Amino acid sequence: MTTLTTHSPIKLVQITDTHLYGTASGTLLKMNTQDSMDHVVKIVRENEEKIDFILATGDIAQDASLDAYQNFIKAMGDLSAPFRWIPGNHDSARVMEEAANGTDACEKLVQINNWQIIFLDTSIEGQVHGRLSQGELDFLDDSLAKASESGEIEHCLVCLHHNPVKGNAGWMRDIGLHNRLQFFNILKQYPKVACIVYGHVHQDLDFEHEGIRCLCTPSTCIQFKPNVTNFALDRLNPGYRTIQLHEDGSIDTEVVRVTGYTFEADFSSGGY
Ligand SMILES: [Fe+2]
Repeated sequence: MTTLTTHSPIKLVQITDTHLYGTASGTLLKMNTQDSMDHVVKIVRENEEKIDFILATGDIAQDASLDAYQNFIKAMGDLSAPFRWIPGNHDSARVMEEAANGTDACEKLVQINNWQIIFLDTSIEGQVHGRLSQGELDFLDDSLAKASESGEIEHCLVCLHHNPVKGNAGWMRDIGLHNRLQFFNILKQYPKVACIVYGHVHQDLDFEHEGIRCLCTPSTCIQFKPNVTNFALDRLNPGYRTIQLHEDGSIDTEVVRVTGYTFEADFSSGGY
């Protein structure tokens, strides 16, 4: 586990669902995902100073290729802040480990000041929906049990790829975290859990569930339209989220999207 002491509030940036390919020309529903991520990284560089940590919450690659992960690592190098990544449904945890070799990118626990950040793998190879394996559930429970006894850790933030609360579109009904009840049954035992951060549904969401703040962040590429029955793309631009963690457990957060640029995408598509 990395332990870091820094200024307060702690400044995190969440970058999610980059869907990169091994080749720079790769497109997802006609959007060039390397190009759209580059636009997001550019505005992060322009807007954010002193980032303590970057949370990369899955679907890093669309094609699960080693080159795609290396493209992501290269982009993160431009932000001069450490990152941790977790796999999404399009990723290969094995290839991510290979790409991260010699770095801490796959580390699952980070302590910053009086906050603990926990990274969970909800991916199931070949499936769109997510599930926490017994091993991941045990890891979550153990980590929170230790945090609850710790005099140093006062607040916990949990990162995962899949939405642990039902999606807000008909087509999303079955694609989230399938064992979300088990997940929340663990979290509810530990009052230090302050926040859940995820991706997967390519939207800006900020709400409370079971007394815990839940944050979902836009993809750096295509956006999913909320409150529809069938799949539809939203015309909102790609973006990222800043999360400021205060010593007293409070959180300030903001989604920032690329402005002044029109991204090409297949807005008539019925699926992805
Ligand atoms: Fe995604």
